[in-house]
Amino acid sequence: MFLGLDLGTSGLRGIVTTEDGTVVAEAEAAVPTSTPHPGWSEQNPGHWTVACQQVVADLRAADAGAFAAIRGIGISGHMHGATLLDASGRVLRHCIMWNDTRSAAEAAALDAMAEMRTQTGNIVFPGFTAPKLDWLRTHEPDIYVQVAKVLLPKDYLRFWLTGSYISDMSDSAGTAWMDVGARGWSDRALELSHMTGAQMPDLVEGSAVGGHLSEELCQTWGLQGPVIVAGGAGDNAAAACGIGCVNEGQGFLSLGTSGVLLLARETYAPAPETAVHTFCHAIPNRWVQMGVMLSATNSLNWLSRNLGQSPADLAQALPDQITSPAKMTFLPYLSGERTPHNNADIRAALLGADVASGPQDMTQAVMEGVAFALRDNLEALRATGADVEQLVAVGGGTRSRFWLETLATVLNVPLALPAGSELGAAIGAARLAICAVTARTPDEVMTPPEIAEVIEPRADLVEAYELAYNRFRAYYTVLSPMAR
Ligand code: XUL
Repeated sequence: MFLGLDLGTSGLRGIVTTEDGTVVAEAEAAVPTSTPHPGWSEQNPGHWTVACQQVVADLRAADAGAFAAIRGIGISGHMHGATLLDASGRVLRHCIMWNDTRSAAEAAALDAMAEMRTQTGNIVFPGFTAPKLDWLRTHEPDIYVQVAKVLLPKDYLRFWLTGSYISDMSDSAGTAWMDVGARGWSDRALELSHMTGAQMPDLVEGSAVGGHLSEELCQTWGLQGPVIVAGGAGDNAAAACGIGCVNEGQGFLSLGTSGVLLLARETYAPAPETAVHTFCHAIPNRWVQMGVMLSATNSLNWLSRNLGQSPADLAQALPDQITSPAKMTFLPYLSGERTPHNNADIRAALLGADVASGPQDMTQAVMEGVAFALRDNLEALRATGADVEQLVAVGGGTRSRFWLETLATVLNVPLALPAGSELGAAIGAARLAICAVTARTPDEVMTPPEIAEVIEPRADLVEAYELAYNRFRAYYTVLSPMAR
């Protein structure tokens, strides 16, 4: 048996699986986030361990026999967070999270040093770890001087589980301290951001052994040691493992609050100029490249709030099939945009209304605008040489047939819908544990899910949507210089 733990932004999820990946128990415990100032986002690492104890208690209550047979643990978690420890392993302050924007100025200053992008393969985004430490240097110097180790959130959980300071390649790639091509810490990036290699954990591949569960926890949880803890992964790479997206040409599109288009790569082909994220995959010699657009289902939520109708009602008012592009155009930049624009100042726009325009036109325009933004992501990824034959579609937005058909046609890529329930990063984490414990290779373990249906692009409408996409792009060119 294997335990997959995914430390998500809103809670920690745990699943127990057999060696063939069948889930026999699952549990979840909430983790609160605090916002002490506008733009700040923090969590107390103590809450992660409490949530972990709760999840383990619930999993044991659900199936004591299965839990007692656990041989390996895989961990994944939200990326980029800075968990700061002193020389005795004590937590110095709350973790500064991935969606905390306080270090925007430090990020811009680091990103302006050309070597940061060449060393790390990525823009230094405000959410990444390096600018957070630079912020601390100026604003909390008393804490800064005590920082002996910086751990990513799931690696703090590992430290609590095992007592070891270890991280994996995929999560560490989002720190802005890593040479993502060489899969090791970059001395130069560390130096430029006033850090040292001694403050970093040791690195292992996600599918390799990354510590052992402490004897104390083995006893408390009724486990027969040794229990291996795998290297694990950042949440997106773990989700890719869960979906079986490990080879060149395989990818997924996640239509959640934000939209993510992730492709597995067999080569390292960074492209920071279009705000593509290039991270190590959780398995050796592979990388992932992602485009992230910030407001996907959140755009529909925004419209729903303003029209006073639920997102589901808005979606249901549309037909199942598309017939032509919307009359209106929506630019979904409610919170600025990451890929491809890296523009925090741009804001959304709904254009082209006439006297007859109503809620249905607006809903179609919003769904289409999100699809166009994802097309921008796809083009940014293609510019790195990536090839896409088909994408697995996941996330809440995929419940709308209309949206799916719009997406398939705008991207001109078939979208595959998984048959089972989505387990996301937790199943990917469990799969990494299976690789670390058994002799099975990632290619054997990380198989694609059963596909219920493939949504094909509407060949008769691809051209019409292409023209609408060109108009969407032209609107951005006109509007971006006016962003405040
Ligand atoms: C990736 C990113 C998010 C976080 C939280 O760059 O910022 O996906 O990992 O889920």
